[in-house]
Amino acid sequence: MTDYMPYNEDQELDNNTSDNTHFRDILEQRISRRSLIKRTASGAAALALASSLSACSDDDDDNSVTPPADQEDPNSKPESLSFTAVDKNLNDIVTVPEGYQATVLYALGDSIHPAFSDWNADKNVPLGPSFQFRSGDCHDGMSYFGLSTKTGRYDANASDHGLLVLNHEYINQTFLHPEGPTKVNGRRPEDEVIREVNAHGVSVVHIKKNTETQAVEIVKSSPFNRRITASTVMDFAGPAVNPNSPLLRTAFSPAGRQTRGTQNNCGNGYTPWGTYLTAEENFIGYFQRSGTDQYADRSEAEKTALKRYGLGLDISYQTEKNADGSIKRDEKNNIVYVLDAQKQKVPELDEQGRIVYLDKSSRYAWETAQAGVESQDMYDRWSANVTKASATEDYRNAPNTFGWIVEIDPFDNSANPVKRTALGRFAHEDCRASRAIEGQQFAFYMGDDSRGEYIYKFVSDAVWDPKDVNGGYAAGDKYMNTGKFYVAKFDASGQGEWIELAFGKNGLTQDNTLYPFSSQADVLTFARLAADSVGATKMDRPEWVAVNPENGEVYVTLTNNSNRGNNPEQPVNAANPRNYSDPEGGKGNVNGHIIRFKEESTAATTFEWDIYLFGAEAQMDANINLSGLTDANDFSSPDGMWFDPRGVLWIQTDDGAYTDVTNCMMLAALPGQVGDGQSVTTVNGQATIAGAQVTDENLRRFLVGPKECEITGVTMTPDYKAIFINVQHPGEDSPRFDAPTSHWPATQTDINNKTARPRSATVVITRTDGKAIAG
Ligand code: FEO
Ligand code: CA
Ligand code: CA
Ligand code: CA
Repeated sequence: MTDYMPYNEDQELDNNTSDNTHFRDILEQRISRRSLIKRTASGAAALALASSLSACSDDDDDNSVTPPADQEDPNSKPESLSFTAVDKNLNDIVTVPEGYQATVLYALGDSIHPAFSDWNADKNVPLGPSFQFRSGDCHDGMSYFGLSTKTGRYDANASDHGLLVLNHEYINQTFLHPEGPTKVNGRRPEDEVIREVNAHGVSVVHIKKNTETQAVEIVKSSPFNRRITASTVMDFAGPAVNPNSPLLRTAFSPAGRQTRGTQNNCGNGYTPWGTYLTAEENFIGYFQRSGTDQYADRSEAEKTALKRYGLGLDISYQTEKNADGSIKRDEKNNIVYVLDAQKQKVPELDEQGRIVYLDKSSRYAWETAQAGVESQDMYDRWSANVTKASATEDYRNAPNTFGWIVEIDPFDNSANPVKRTALGRFAHEDCRASRAIEGQQFAFYMGDDSRGEYIYKFVSDAVWDPKDVNGGYAAGDKYMNTGKFYVAKFDASGQGEWIELAFGKNGLTQDNTLYPFSSQADVLTFARLAADSVGATKMDRPEWVAVNPENGEVYVTLTNNSNRGNNPEQPVNAANPRNYSDPEGGKGNVNGHIIRFKEESTAATTFEWDIYLFGAEAQMDANINLSGLTDANDFSSPDGMWFDPRGVLWIQTDDGAYTDVTNCMMLAALPGQVGDGQSVTTVNGQATIAGAQVTDENLRRFLVGPKECEITGVTMTPDYKAIFINVQHPGEDSPRFDAPTSHWPATQTDINNKTARPRSATVVITRTDGKAIAG
C-alpha cells in the first residue's frame, strides 16, 4: 500500500530549464501558474493560449518542402514495394527495414510543458495532476496536421512544423502507478484516480522536423501543446441534443448540452477543414451500476438500452455451499448452482421477495474515490445509479454522454471539443471521411467494434466547399450535424445496402418491439437497437476504415471473431465467411479479414463489395490462407489501417493468435480494386468473393513491434519523409509492476536494459537517406 502526500502544486513547478521566454511571457500574461495548476488537476479547465496567437515561429526553419532535384517525386504512388521485408520476430524492439530508423518521440509520462520535468519512473512516477501536461497511456489513433508558422493555422502542405494529435485509449495500471493500482478501505486513492483520468483522452503535440536530417522533435514550449482528458468539458451538437431529447441531461448539465471528458479513444479520423475526430470505443466499462438500480425509477426502455450497451444487470443465482460456507465447485472448477425441478437455476430473493441482481463494477472504480483535490462530483459521475429524484440531479444518464465521435480543433484551444451526435452512439472504433470533392456530400464511415456489431455511415446534407478549410467547429457544424445515418447490410452475391436509420422509417417508431423510438435522438443514442431492428449484417468486429484516395473505395478491418460460426446467432455468411481452428487453440474467424466496398457516390444507398485480404499464417491451407500470404507478409488480426495520400495502404495488427511466432506488426500494401479477384469457397464450405491474391511486391511487412504490444495509429508528414506509429501496451501481460515482460522503449536504444518500465509511445520512422517512406 502506497501512501501519498497530499498534492502540492509547488512540488513539480519551477523545473523549467528551458530558455524559451516566448512561452513564459505568454503564459504569465494569461494566467498565473498557481491558478493554472489548481484549475487543471483533472483537466477541468484547459490552457487557452494558442487561440490568441497569430503565429508561433520559434525558429528560423525554412517552410519549404521542395525535394532536392535528385529525388523522385515523393507524391507519386510507388509501383511496387521495394523495402526489405521485416522478418516476423519476438524481439523487444521496433524493427524496421534496412535503411530506415525508428526513434521514440513521445512516451507515457513525457512532458509537453516546460514547467514539468521529464518522466523518470526509476526515481518517481509523476503525480496525478501533472499528467494534464504529460503524455497519457495506451497511444492509439493519430493524425498529423501541418502547421503554418506564418499564420498559426492548418496548412496541409507543411512538413516542417505540425500538430501531432493522438488518442490515449486506456491505461496499463500496473505501470502507471509506483506499485500498481491500490485501494484503501475499498476506495481508490485520489491521486491514482486523477493520474488515470488524466492519462486518458487525447494529446495535441507540436512537433518540428529538420528539413535536412528529417529528425523530429517536440516543441515543448509551444502553446499549441494540450491534453484533453476524461475530465475536459465537451459540448454536444446535433440531433440528440436537448431540447430534442432528455437523454443527455445530467447533474453537470441539466440542459443536456455538455459533459466532462472523452475516454477509451480508439481509432480516429480527420476532416479536410483541419480538425481531428476521436472515437469513443469501450466507454461503458467505466461506469458502475448497483444491483438495486434494477428497482429504481427507470422505464423498461431505459433498462433495455442499458443492457444493449453492456450495463445490464445479471441475476444472482443461489449456489451450493461447502461446509465452511465457501461456494461449491465441480471437478472442472465450475460453480455448482441450486437447480429447480426443471433443472433451472434458482434466483436469490431479497427480503421483499424480489429477484436479487448483481452489482456491476466499473473497470477502474473511479466512482470510489473520495474528493480532496477535486469535487466529489468528479467521482460520483462514474456511477450510473439513480440516486436522486430526477435525471438532472444525478448521473443515471452519464453513460449516454459517451460513445460518440468527438471533433477536436487542434488549432483552437479556446473552444470545447464537440461530440457530434448525428454520427450515432456505439463502441466507435474509427471514423473516416470520404474524399473531399468540391460540390459533393461527405460520407463518414464507422465501425462498432464488438463481436457481431455493425458498420455505419453518415452522409452530410452539405456539399464540400474548399473555402471551409480552417473553418474549425463552425465547419463541423455545417458538415456533421445534419445528414442521413445508415447501417450496412451485405448480401451473398457481392451487393450491399445502406439502410437508413431515421425516426419514422424502416420500423423505427414508437411501436418498435425492441425499443419504443420516439425521436431521431432515440435512434442515434441507441443506434445499436435501431440497427438490430432493421436487420443489419453482424460483422467480425469492425475496426478501422480507410478510403482509397485513387477511387474512393472503402476498406474496413474485421479483426477476428471467436463467435463466428460457433455462436448460433453469428453463423458464417459471405461477408464473414470463415470458421476454422488455430493450431494453438481457438476457433472461429481466427485471423480476421479486410472487406472493401465501392459506391456510385458518397450518398449511394447500395454498394458492391469483396474481401480484399484474409489474415492467416503462411503455412495454413489454401482454403484458409485465401489471399496467398507468404512469410514476407503473413499477419493476423488487422486493426489500425490508413491510406496515405499517395495510395499506399498501411495495415496494423492487434493480435493474440500468431503471437507465439511474432509480435504485432505493420504492413504496407498496394491494393487493386473491388472485383479484381474471384469467387472462392472457404474451408468451412462458405462461398464468398475474394479480391486478387497478393504478392510480395504489393503486400510486405514494414515493421514489427516490441513484446506484447499492439501497433496502432499511423500518419505521415505530407512530404512522406516521416511516418509515425504508436506502440500500445508493450509488456501488457506482466504479472506485477516489478516483473515487466518488456522494457521497451528503453530497449530501443539499449537492448540490454532489464529494468525499465514498459511504456506506450509514439515512434517516428525516417530513412537514413532522407527519402520518401516506401518510396
Ligand atoms: Fe480499441 Fe477495437 O480497438
Ligand atoms: Ca483498435
Ligand atoms: Ca487493443
Ligand atoms: Ca496461431
